Amino acid sequence: MKKIKDLRPIKLENNQLHVINQLKLPQTTEWVRLSTYQEVARAIKEMVVRGAPLIGIVGAYGFAIGINQIYREQGNFSSAEDVLQTLKNTRPTAVNLFWALERVWRKFERAMADKKPPEEVIKMLFKEANKIELEDYHANRAIGGYGQVLLPEKARVLTHCNTGALATSGWGTALGVIRSAYEEGKDVLAYVDETRPYLQGARLTAWELQYEGIPHLLITDNSAGFLMKKGMVDAVIVGADRITGNGDVANKIGTYSLSVLAKEHGIPFYVAAPTSTFDLETLSGEEIPIEERSEDEVKTCGGCSIAPEGTKALNYSFDVTPASNITAIITEKGIISHVDRDHIEKFIKYRGV
Ligand code: MRU
Repeated sequence: MKKIKDLRPIKLENNQLHVINQLKLPQTTEWVRLSTYQEVARAIKEMVVRGAPLIGIVGAYGFAIGINQIYREQGNFSSAEDVLQTLKNTRPTAVNLFWALERVWRKFERAMADKKPPEEVIKMLFKEANKIELEDYHANRAIGGYGQVLLPEKARVLTHCNTGALATSGWGTALGVIRSAYEEGKDVLAYVDETRPYLQGARLTAWELQYEGIPHLLITDNSAGFLMKKGMVDAVIVGADRITGNGDVANKIGTYSLSVLAKEHGIPFYVAAPTSTFDLETLSGEEIPIEERSEDEVKTCGGCSIAPEGTKALNYSFDVTPASNITAIITEKGIISHVDRDHIEKFIKYRGV
């Protein structure tokens, strides 16, 4: 077993959250302190923290911080719903945020119904957020364990966006599979899509893989087809922001194109995600709210303008990959190797999700 350096993107100290500022990577590893729920909401919206599992975890801590804050400010919990709503109104696509907020909200409602003392309520909420964080870490390690088995001994794996320690509690989903394969001693090479416009691949994944000592090559987003055609890619692994009841997957813009290319070239296309990413109430990908971000992200790169002044741009942050393009979904409860409604329903039922 190879040893991989640990990397955790958040820590809680004295009921305040400290997070690595992902806007500053790779130039600077700066930690920022989030001590109010408004600061937490802004950090999620502005992508100081990002990645579906991590925004769920940070959202849950944000709720605990907010409940503590309003109690100190007002002496009661009457604006608890405002705290919840502010955190919900940050990013719309990743379901993990709503899943985690729902979990802490239910805990809060139950504590209210049971007339628990305020200090105990606050303590319970921090505990629940911590539980979500720890569960995510264990889920990631399990995903890595299941997923690495799917990779050959010599594996050249193409990945998109950042799905590693920086996007989760600290190991990663799709990147976690690559880490686990490397840890197992497999001869791994990761092709890292730069992932315009936010450059999660170039700025974050390349930084993370370098930190962890895992071999990788940074590629432009438009290189994938050529590498596949030349037989240089053994598998594609991506993460997910939401998986609907029929197995459609919302993930970082560009994922759908990769799935089409992988299908054309007969290359396995894997999605790695914890079961908190499943949204079974949403029947298909067409119903997923897709975040649109500022056109400035497209018209600039590294703070420099790259388009003529006055150019209009379109910036969908996510796309939807149809279930039919996905070889398998790797979860912490096992692998779904036929991705359709029927198999997802059976998986959910028998694996106790
Ligand atoms: O906009 P981001 O950086 O939050 O988008 C992240 C992704 O699309 C990831 O692939 C997804 O959240 C899975 S992270 C384990």
